This record gives sequence, structure tokens and C-alpha cells, in this order.
Amino acid sequence: MNAITPNSADLDQREVLFTPLTVRNVTFRNRIAMSPMTRGFCPNGTPGENVVAYYRRRAEGGVGLIVTEGIAVDHPAALGDAGLGENNIPVLAGDGPIAGWRAVVDAVHAAGAKIIPQLWHQGAMRKPGTGPHPDVPSVSPSGIWGPLGRMTSIDPGSIPADPRIGEPMSDEDIEDAIQAFVRCAENAMKAGFDGIALHGGHGYLIDNFLWKETNQRNDRWGGDRTRRSEFAAEIVRRIRAVIGEDLPIFFRFSQWRQQDFRSTLADSPEELGEVLRPLAEAGVDVFDASVRYYNSPAFKGYPENLAGWAKRLTGKLSMAVGGIGINQGMYDRDKPVQAVVDYAPLLERFGRGEFDLIAVGRAMIGDPNWAEKFRAGQEPEPYRKENDGILT
Ligand SMILES: Cc1cc2nc3c(=O)[nH]c(=O)nc-3n(C[C@H](O)[C@H](O)[C@H](O)COP(=O)(O)O)c2cc1C
Repeated sequence: MNAITPNSADLDQREVLFTPLTVRNVTFRNRIAMSPMTRGFCPNGTPGENVVAYYRRRAEGGVGLIVTEGIAVDHPAALGDAGLGENNIPVLAGDGPIAGWRAVVDAVHAAGAKIIPQLWHQGAMRKPGTGPHPDVPSVSPSGIWGPLGRMTSIDPGSIPADPRIGEPMSDEDIEDAIQAFVRCAENAMKAGFDGIALHGGHGYLIDNFLWKETNQRNDRWGGDRTRRSEFAAEIVRRIRAVIGEDLPIFFRFSQWRQQDFRSTLADSPEELGEVLRPLAEAGVDVFDASVRYYNSPAFKGYPENLAGWAKRLTGKLSMAVGGIGINQGMYDRDKPVQAVVDYAPLLERFGRGEFDLIAVGRAMIGDPNWAEKFRAGQEPEPYRKENDGILT
């Protein structure tokens, strides 16, 4: 019997991922989260019955926590066409969307899981002239998209000819963007969510402040790594003030971004500490370290992955993601997708306390019952990219 055909000892080892975890006053029944995944099934920003059923199925399938798809914050430049049709990305403002999300939250709770919304502002990555407010310009801290000609998978037609896409944000622009996050956090409370997740990676607005190439400011919001974290830290503090002390805040960050897959925020653990510590002090409870392969060491010379370093450097909890339940990374298309993988390295790292939660992305689209099947050693349905256009 090989490592990917589980025997009873292997299955026993998997049980470590089925211990509950309490963060602040919220208890997740196990350590398996659904990773945030944009699907584009919310006409006019509003989740309907099909979206309720989609998330309900994952909760019924045993997941402990759902991090929703990216939800655009209540700011005119937050959202453009993400390649999924105009205005099909959810929002969290106004009676219709709040009621839609309330129905999602109730369904997920009834099935025993917790759910938090991922608040998202596309920043420099927003495609100008698209989204619910096509006339407003896109925003970025220094008015910069990012250096051109770097390694990216963005369609060349969507890369601006000039890296300068607008004016640097004024203090008032920055305050407006912060307030948009805070308003959505307030609305999330009205919808009954169990906490807040912030999208601080992948080249979007919060990451535009963290990355030196897009943040060339020399004021409160820019400078060295610690100062570049101030925008994110201010959002975290202000959200904490409105959601109170009982609910967790998750923060997703990434070394890479769509403008430049090879770029980094930090080239050593010390530098990563400079980025993350201000966020931990501001009130982040769980760092969600977005990488393509959870099993990759984050820095040369050490085995720990990025989630492991986030935990070690801040003393907070962390969540690992990337290639769990699937044999290839998110941007790799070179081999046939397989849903059966060797979990030994994952369980070993988890057992060492490197991270506290795992997030499963594409495998959870492929099979809503992924968590239960993983526990029982059954083979899940594989993820099929061609099915991204349907909500199963
Ligand atoms: C269809 C799709 C949509 C995604 N949308 C988001 C998103 O809205 N926010 C986000 O932070 N990550 C998004 N991601 C990244 C996933 O959350 C996850 O980090 C990535 O797929 C790697 O995990 P996996 O290997 O388990 O799929 C998306 C991924 C996919 C496949």
C-alpha cells in the first residue's frame, strides 16, 4: 500500500485536522477552511439561492470555515471586470446584498460551519472603464500599476501601456478607501458573519501599499516596510473597533503579485517580520499566507513555509494554502489534474505546529464533500477548470 492509498494508520493521522480551534470567541469545528475563490455568480453584486446552495454544500461536506470569494468593498474604484462578466462579483452594501449574504451565513451556520467575508479592493489591478462605476479612475497609492515586463499571466491586452495609471492617492482618497472597508465590516456584522478576512495580497489595493514598487510614498503611508504596512494596519484597527473583541480578523498576504510573479515583500525572515508585526499589533488574529505550494520553504536555508514564518514571527495563528488536495499549483497547467495526493508532508508540518489551519481552494470547488472524504480516505471528485463556468 503506497502513501496515497490511506490505511487506517494514515486515517488516524488525519484526525489532527479535525480538532476544534477557538480564535477569540469563535470556535471552528476543525482545521479545514475553504479558500476564498471568486466565482462571478452574483448578478448586481447580490448572492442568490444558487450561491446559498453552493456554500451550504461545502458546509454540509464538513469544512470548518468558509472564507467567501472576494467581496468588493463599498468604494467606486473597488471593482472592475474580473473576466467574469460585468457586475457579477458580490458586494456587501445595500439591503439586497446584505440580505443575500445573511441567507448564505444562515445556511452555513445551520450546517455547523463558520463563515467570514473576504473584503477586496482591486486597487491598481482594476481594469479601467469597467465594473459598476466605469467612469471613476483606478486607484493605487502612488498612481502606479507596477513595473512592466515582469513575469505575469495577465493577458497582454489588460496590461497598461504606461505604468503610471493616475495620480498618487490624496489623504482624503486614502481615508475614503479605509472607510469603505470599515462600512463593509459593519455590514458583515448585520449579515451575521463570524469575523472578517482582508485581501492583502496578489497585487490589489492593500498589497499595492505593501509593495515597494507600487508604494513610493514618503508620508504616513509609505517609506520602509513597516511604514508601508500602515494602510493595512489602520484598516485592521478601524475594523476591530467596529466588530469588537470577540471575532477574528484574518489577513491574506502574498510574496508574489499578478504584476510580477517573482517579486517579494520580504527576502528574509527579518524583513517579513517588519511587514507583519505592525499588522499583528493592529489586531490580526490569523495570517493567511498565499502561496502556490504549501510545501515550499519560504526562505533559503530553512524548511518552514510562509505560514510557518508568519506564525513564528508574530506569535499569531496562521493558515497554509496552495496545492492541498490537488497535484499542481494554481498557475500550472502542464500536467493532468489529480485529486489524490500524498498528505504525509502536510500532516507532518501541521503536527510540528507550523500552522493552525489549512485552506483548500480548487479541490473544494471540485468536490463540496472534500473535507469528509479526506477524513474517510475516499477519493474526491477532481477539480476541472472547464467547470469554473458553473456553480456546483
Ligand atoms: C477560481 C479561483 C478564484 C480565486 N479567487 C480568489 C479570491 O477571490 N481571493 C483570493 O484571495 N484568492 C483567490 N483565489 C486563490 C485561492 O484562494 C487559493 O489561494 C489558490 O487557488 C491556491 O489554493 P489551491 O491550490 O488549493 O487551489 C482563487 C483561485 C481560484 C482557482
